[in-house]
Amino acid sequence: MFYICINCGYGSASWLGKCPECGQWNTMEQKIEQSGKKEAVKKINIVKLQKVTPTFEKNRIKTGLFEFNRVLGGGLIQGEVAFLSGEPGIGKSTLLLQAVKNLKTLYISGEEAANQVKMRAERLGVNQENFYFSEDLQVEGIIESISTLKNKPEILIIDSIQTVYSKDVDAIPGSITQTKESTSRLISFAKKTEIPVIIVGHITKEGDIAGPKTLEHLVDCVLVFEGENNSNFRILRSSKNRFGPTDEIGIFEMKENGLNEISNPLVFLEGNDKGLSAGKATIGIIEGKRPLFFEIESLVVPTILTIPRRVANGVDYNKVLLLLAVIKKHLRLPLDKYDIYVNVIGGVKIKSTTADLGIIASLVSSIKNAIIPHKTVFIGEVGLLGEVRKVYYQEKVIGEAKRLGFKKIISSEVYKYIKEINLF
Ligand code: TYD
Ligand code: MG
Repeated sequence: MFYICINCGYGSASWLGKCPECGQWNTMEQKIEQSGKKEAVKKINIVKLQKVTPTFEKNRIKTGLFEFNRVLGGGLIQGEVAFLSGEPGIGKSTLLLQAVKNLKTLYISGEEAANQVKMRAERLGVNQENFYFSEDLQVEGIIESISTLKNKPEILIIDSIQTVYSKDVDAIPGSITQTKESTSRLISFAKKTEIPVIIVGHITKEGDIAGPKTLEHLVDCVLVFEGENNSNFRILRSSKNRFGPTDEIGIFEMKENGLNEISNPLVFLEGNDKGLSAGKATIGIIEGKRPLFFEIESLVVPTILTIPRRVANGVDYNKVLLLLAVIKKHLRLPLDKYDIYVNVIGGVKIKSTTADLGIIASLVSSIKNAIIPHKTVFIGEVGLLGEVRKVYYQEKVIGEAKRLGFKKIISSEVYKYIKEINLF
């Protein structure tokens, strides 16, 4: 028996709690026994790139969800392996059931029993004629059983990778060696049969995919499904995509009848029903090729702490700190005696840097206790010198903002530096 550290590769004849090489805990895992026969030298097959015909574009397998296809890059490629991650309960299984609605599907579930899946499939209107299900979780068995089927599935779903196992690995399902081995086998299955596979995986509270980082390197596409507990909005992103873009997002809302696809760019705005208040600013950003509008709200209040509190929800914390420094330096506003809270309305995370100008506007609006006029939108990145920068696809966001009836569009087209902006 031999143990290898999955972090640094250190080998030991006995199991150790802590790796003496890299100092990590619980990283020693049993090495998989290799069969004794070694492969002989094989001549490699060389082709001229010119002679290769890319077939995948026309062969994309469209799922039943437009937003899902958008994130994939138009649909799944034959033999593609996608990894769908997200916190438990976020809606991964629901998303997949809706996505495969009209595809001939084999759904392997170690998370839910057949009757539970049936009830949900019925509610979501899945075509059950073409839907096959199994609770058996041995990877070799799954692959072997599909190979004997006359009528092959168009897609294989594994829900989740933490529940399946390979018979050749001596570790419990969900362990790092098991998930890695099962994934490798599923990948070679997909490449051989050209049947796309979607593998579901949980992520930890810290946002890491449970299992080794190497899983992400192995698969073709890594999808992340996210949303806040207090919100029904769900965003689908891809953090890696061999066959498509990584900046497109899919927007959904979880309702009683499942996930509804959202195409309205103003969906995240509360509108004016609640009245305007100081600290609120509307931003226009671009996600992928799509303009979207969000509201940022800030609260700046006198602190009683020696180190004032800074809280950021939905936007990057360090970005907020940086923008506060820019405000302090270039707008000369005193911030050290205030606690500061910044939040994106709708419970979604914004990754785009296009939000900078709007975050600053919302902060300044709260500090000065002055309301930003109705129908004003901020579009722009802000640099360390307080300059307003043009953003990627700016014309497109501005065009969309005009079309949607925004009266005042604040961007690098009108202002060079933030100190020139005088709104109140
Ligand atoms: P689920 O897909 O089971 O999440 P995951 O697979 O990521 O663990 O969905 C979980 C939640 O979604 C569950 O708490 C109930 C809710 N839900 C709805 O609100 N409406 C619906 O139609 C469905 C199917 C689920
Ligand atoms: Mg699930």
